[in-house]
Amino acid sequence: MTRGPLAGRVAVVTGGARGIGLGICRRLAQDGASVVIWDRDLAPFDAATAGFAPAALVPVDVANLASVERAYAGTVAKTGRIDILVNNAGVNGPVAPTWEYPPDAWDQVLAVDLTGVFYCCRAVIPGMRAAGYGRILNISSAAGKEGVQNIAAYAAAKAGVIGYTKSIARELVGSGVLVNSLAPVITETELFREMTAEHIASSKAKIPMGRFLTVPEIAAMVAWVVGPDCTFCTGFTFDLSGGRATY
Ligand SMILES: NC(=O)c1ccc[n+]([C@@H]2O[C@H](COP(=O)([O-])OP(=O)(O)OC[C@H]3O[C@@H](n4cnc5c(N)ncnc54)[C@H](O)[C@@H]3O)[C@@H](O)[C@H]2O)c1
Repeated sequence: MTRGPLAGRVAVVTGGARGIGLGICRRLAQDGASVVIWDRDLAPFDAATAGFAPAALVPVDVANLASVERAYAGTVAKTGRIDILVNNAGVNGPVAPTWEYPPDAWDQVLAVDLTGVFYCCRAVIPGMRAAGYGRILNISSAAGKEGVQNIAAYAAAKAGVIGYTKSIARELVGSGVLVNSLAPVITETELFREMTAEHIASSKAKIPMGRFLTVPEIAAMVAWVVGPDCTFCTGFTFDLSGGRATY
């Protein structure tokens, strides 16, 4: 029998095939959850190196309502229910000042990073309400709290995630469903290989602890927020900033 604080729980992680999402899946599985990966691109998921066996791998575009509803129906047909949803899927979009920012890219970033969170919450919440239990964690970003020049669509979407989280947490008070979000700073992932040394150095300089956040640190906080010890927090945005965040 599976042991751990999340034993018996079914957790869906969007964008779980790689990066931060994969690290979250690994940790939730270690803690005993049955983990279902929802991702637009499942190819990067490598069962041989993942270190856990997902309960299901479900192709989904979180920006497409019909696709999300299909993924929900397919998942519940297999697992019976969803106890935990981690909305992690996200895209960065182009880097450009707002007067040069392509309007279609704006629509796409908002569609994935904000509307996708709404679609996934909308799909899972009725089942959680009926069960009287649920944990939802939406991955925002420090960019959503502070704003960042040249990635305004991303920052606006991530700020939207914080407002959306606060709002639905209140809609769900008393239902047994808690909804929170997480605002990490830049995190050490494979994407670092695509960044210039200057960009990496200037990002690090903004973090008082003088180092980058790591994926296992994010996963550990996610595990606590969606786990049995988190019972009195809802509508909150947890911070992972190495001392950078001031509110
Ligand atoms: N990497 C960082 O430094 C950092 C910092 C703060 C917040 N975040 C947030 O953390 C989350 C994960 O970031 P990451 O660095 O692991 O990114 P990543 O690009 O490595 O992974 C994102 C995953 O989301 C999936 N995805 C993208 N669009 C999708 C869609 N429409 N439908 C379904 N799946 C989709 C991708 O296929 C991929 O597997 C994102 O929401 C990101 O904004 C990242």
